Amino acid sequence: MLRKSFLYMFFIIELNQALKNEINIFGPGLKPEEIVMPARYFYVNFTNINSLSYKPELNKNLVIDIYGRSKTSEHCRVWVNKLDRKDGTFIVRYKLYETCFDLSIHVYYKRKDVVQSPYKFKGPVYPDQCHCPDIDFEHWLKSYGCSNTYEQIHKDLKPYQDIDMTEKVKKIVQQYHQPESTSFCHYVVKENEIYRNCYGKHIGFNMFSDNILLALSRKVKLPDIELVINLGDWPLVHKGSEPLPVFSWCGSDETFDITMPTYDLTESALENMGRVTLDTLSVQSGAELAWDKREPRAVWRGRDSRAERLKLIDIARANPDLFNASLTNFFFFRDKEAQYGPKQPHISFFKFFDYKYQINIDGTVAAYRLPYLLAGGGTVLKQDSPYYEHFYKQLTPWEHFIPVKRDLSDLVDRVKWARENDDKAQLIAMNAKNFANEHLLPQHVICYHAVLFWEWSKLVKSKVHVEDNMTHVPQAAFECDCRSENRKIREDL
Ligand SMILES: *[C@@H]1O[C@H](CO)[C@@H](O)[C@H](O)[C@H]1NC(C)=O
Ligand SMILES: *[C@@H]1O[C@H](CO)[C@@H](O)[C@H](O)[C@H]1NC(C)=O
Ligand SMILES: *[C@@H]1O[C@H](CO)[C@@H](O)[C@H](O)[C@H]1NC(C)=O
Repeated sequence: MLRKSFLYMFFIIELNQALKNEINIFGPGLKPEEIVMPARYFYVNFTNINSLSYKPELNKNLVIDIYGRSKTSEHCRVWVNKLDRKDGTFIVRYKLYETCFDLSIHVYYKRKDVVQSPYKFKGPVYPDQCHCPDIDFEHWLKSYGCSNTYEQIHKDLKPYQDIDMTEKVKKIVQQYHQPESTSFCHYVVKENEIYRNCYGKHIGFNMFSDNILLALSRKVKLPDIELVINLGDWPLVHKGSEPLPVFSWCGSDETFDITMPTYDLTESALENMGRVTLDTLSVQSGAELAWDKREPRAVWRGRDSRAERLKLIDIARANPDLFNASLTNFFFFRDKEAQYGPKQPHISFFKFFDYKYQINIDGTVAAYRLPYLLAGGGTVLKQDSPYYEHFYKQLTPWEHFIPVKRDLSDLVDRVKWARENDDKAQLIAMNAKNFANEHLLPQHVICYHAVLFWEWSKLVKSKVHVEDNMTHVPQAAFECDCRSENRKIREDL
């Protein structure tokens, strides 16, 4: 009897040790006092399990509990969401609806705290709506975990030095203000308050540029800046013309526009666990099938916004064993609907990952779905393109995606290559997913904007001032007591 329980104890110790070595818990959500996000997140990573040995029991046995108290009650409001990446790794997201104190994050496996769980934070831990900016930008950048150099920013800002924005804005309005076809806003950030003047007929998209500026200015006191943000997809400032500084969501080899993360990616970062359902976190748990169970064909859905998209339909029809592609809408080539239709219903984005390969073809400009395809763990066949988003220059062909010629002439061969080199195709998918986790998550999107605006502020020499006819963009009202060291700035305002 004695001997048996001794053995049993020994077994328990062994098991705990083994568990310790097998689980890795990391991510910005474990620094909730410093890193304020709409949805905070961290990883729980069982290092010795991969997608082949993965068992659903893992998900059942992993339990997350996050709680704290609010100023007035025993419990603060928190919503927790566990995403199963089905490869032995999990993403835990949680959203705070009010300021929490004594926040505890428990990670239980088989009812036991693992690694350093519980993680405890005295607080205050702020929800994203709190307007509690850190007054020291460089301090904030560091504590938020931002990288401070981005090659794309460096390249984009190279043409600009000692800029007189009063003069440049005038020129931008003169040259690019065409109410029917262009829309942009002239923004001023002064003493961390936001003002704008918009030009053009379709300025509804300024809600996206407003949102990121407001979100940043709640977290950190922004430098005084003045900038013009293009609300259209097409970059505006062609090479050969004067390099006027315009910030755009899509860049191209033929233009000078300064690229920012797209409104789509930015919104999915700012509305994480909110208004959006597709984002670079959620998409990681969306795939239902393990790699081996997926169809070894290339999938595509989209509208008819470019001639190559019609060409893709021809190619797919000629090679049904390699493709499943259809158009979901006709707008640009309505006259070709009989030939390329009928239009097919949309399929859920997650369904793309029932297939091993996903095609990324430009729409009017770059297809903004690329971040989600990469994060979702697909092997992306990417059409060569002069258009790019802020992160494309960091991608390497054959490492993160399979390159395809602009005219799609090698597309069939590329799909065949992927089928014949399954290990390599799978590795590309894994690299893509890792890339997305290192560069395309909400923290990275927020950081990119912050660094871009900071670097931009250093290049402008004219005094930033608010014009009389500008509209003030206020923060939404939200009750929040900021820590005393932050409060200083509020009293100054
Ligand atoms: C789990 O974490 C370890 C250590 O950080 C890392 O090497 C490994 O790639 C991670 N696994 C996955 C599937 O992300
Ligand atoms: C293509 O995908 C759709 C939606 O999943 C499916 O209904 C259809 O049967 C597929 N077509 C082919 C040719 O595989
Ligand atoms: C706002 O005022 C400035 C300077 O007075 C002027 O140049 C600009 O055209 C005005 N903008 C709008 C949108 O009215």
